[in-house]
Amino acid sequence: MSSPTVVTCGLPYANGDLHIGHLRGYVSADVLHRALEKTGEKTAYVCGSDMHGTPIAVNAAQEGMSPKEFALNYHEQYKETFPKFDVDFSHYGHTHDDVNTSTTQEIVKILDDEGYVYEKEIKVAFDPIEEQPLPDRFVEGTCPYCGATARGDECDEGCGRHLEPGEIEDPVSTITGNPAEYRDRTHKFFEVSELSDVLTSFLDQLEGTDNAQNQPRQWIEEGLQDWCITRDMDWGIDYPEEDTDLVLYVWVDAPIEYISATKQYTEKVGEDEYDWRDVWKGDGDIIHVIGRDIIQHHTIFWPSMLHVADYNLPKAICATGFITINGKGLSTSRNRAIWAQEYLDEELHTDLLRYYLTTNGGLQQDVDFSWEKFQNRVNGELVDTLGNFLYRAMLFAHRNYEGTPDTAVSDEVSNRIETACEDFETAVDEYDIRQIGQVAVELAGYGNEYIQRNEPWNLVDSEPDQAATVIRDCVQIAKAVAVLAAPTLPQKAQTLWQQLGESGSVRDVGLDAALEAPPETFNEPVELFAGIEDERVEELDAKLQERVATATDDENESEDTSTGDDEEQTMADDIEPIAEERISFDDFKELDIRVGRIETAEPIEGADELLRLEVDIGTETRQIVAGLRQLHDVDELPGTKIIVVANLEKAELFGVESNGMLLAAGEQADLLTTYEDAEPGEKIQ
Ligand code: 2FM
Ligand code: ZN
Repeated sequence: MSSPTVVTCGLPYANGDLHIGHLRGYVSADVLHRALEKTGEKTAYVCGSDMHGTPIAVNAAQEGMSPKEFALNYHEQYKETFPKFDVDFSHYGHTHDDVNTSTTQEIVKILDDEGYVYEKEIKVAFDPIEEQPLPDRFVEGTCPYCGATARGDECDEGCGRHLEPGEIEDPVSTITGNPAEYRDRTHKFFEVSELSDVLTSFLDQLEGTDNAQNQPRQWIEEGLQDWCITRDMDWGIDYPEEDTDLVLYVWVDAPIEYISATKQYTEKVGEDEYDWRDVWKGDGDIIHVIGRDIIQHHTIFWPSMLHVADYNLPKAICATGFITINGKGLSTSRNRAIWAQEYLDEELHTDLLRYYLTTNGGLQQDVDFSWEKFQNRVNGELVDTLGNFLYRAMLFAHRNYEGTPDTAVSDEVSNRIETACEDFETAVDEYDIRQIGQVAVELAGYGNEYIQRNEPWNLVDSEPDQAATVIRDCVQIAKAVAVLAAPTLPQKAQTLWQQLGESGSVRDVGLDAALEAPPETFNEPVELFAGIEDERVEELDAKLQERVATATDDENESEDTSTGDDEEQTMADDIEPIAEERISFDDFKELDIRVGRIETAEPIEGADELLRLEVDIGTETRQIVAGLRQLHDVDELPGTKIIVVANLEKAELFGVESNGMLLAAGEQADLLTTYEDAEPGEKIQ
């Protein structure tokens, strides 16, 4: 067996209820973990609640609770909620426990002993009336880089930069509203600026999503700053030094929980079963799944700590896009969210949500949730393709053969199943979580086509041997579907497994089982999926709309940066007014806009945001340069239909000619495409 792997997912702040923005990450990492298991890897999936930091301290104070009690309540809630979505952590800990406290202090001591930590006097915001230090989100003000309103540690509404203490301008206390003043305080800094070369070679080898490699390269080129790793607070892990009342910045101890949780998993199962040292110190692999808003922490600060403290660096970082709801940013304060508990209360099957969240687009793309889209995907893919094939095939098998016909699988079908298993393995190697889930559905689609093409119902009497082979093939496809669907649809795959007469858990079998003979007999199958009715969708949507409409505007109600919550600002409030000046119809007709299809997409050297596209526009193939590199999964672009302004004057970008312009919506460059099947070359009018 190869060396073990640990899969981790960004720690949720123990600060508010879980919603689908959170679930996207935890389910994606869970699918990857289960899929790795299927390919025979020894893996652990660890995570924990992020207990420290100012938002928790602020919210606890508002509730009149201690931060510890406040955070532990949410921790317990998360621990109970994740398993309900089959998010099955090998260990789920929290950052305030003894193991994480000692591991953090040990690591920080090494950073200090190795000479990477120094003290510096800096300006720290203080509330002069309350005589209280105001770290991070205890203070708001103006971003010195872009002028937007920002929090003490992050320009969350503007340029997105991490802000160091003392950087924010015009500081105001978020607790009292008092204007803050800056006072000199001595803090500890970690010399990240010394580690540019280490980080560059780390990024050269890093696997995962493109955004996790490209963005940090740019930050390194711009020059890294040292990182302030202490705060004036009571809540947190103490800096490991006597005579100091500083605590560590939450982003120091949070990722260390990845190590601590792995240690605790080892304690639980024993070193022979899984040794945390293999992944963190030996030949094993570390895979992080995170939200794209915390790329900097995972590609700059975290590997810097790991390197100096002599731990392994991550092999892969997969950064997910955000979730939007009906095209608008998720907002917990405006109640525009689908809450985990709400979904459970609706008694919709959790596998459906797992499927939707993980197979909607590439991992780094934003996913828009609407009940209607959810219904379309469930009814179209799970009910019509997957469920339909399984039910027809197994019902036919049961009625005519009481189970699996006693004959061999055809070469065609066994080759097709082998290809599906290879596709699954490739998807795992490429961290293509969407494709991991799609392989089974595609195989079922083939099954439908195969059964339709061979019409076994017309063969049973006239050509019984041939009919038996076709149905034997179909039962084998059904078994392979169970094996391949198990990571994404764990409960449905298990039901199917049992319907096939198999014993044990489909989770425990490897990919080889896809081609092993199913049991000779099985009972009449029951349909695996039920369609979602239009009325149900209307009901669910009405509930959501009503809730959003009546929600308060209290921005402090919940702060959640890990899940795209902050998109709200750019998406809802900042919609640009419509231009007042009208253009004539003749002017509009001068634009020659066509349907195109992307044939190839490749990065342009030296231009972090640009891609060179070859686009088929019907009459010819055009080279178009577009700023999509950070926003789309480059490998997924070929084949996508787009809309192109074909008679725009040519331009040159980074020395590459752009012969046309594609149309896209908003900051995220959501590509305009066709609703039905217009072909390349067709005119937009
Ligand atoms: O952004 C967040 O929600 C943080 N709680 C994530 C921490 S991830 C890790 F590094 F610990
Ligand atoms: Zn800014």
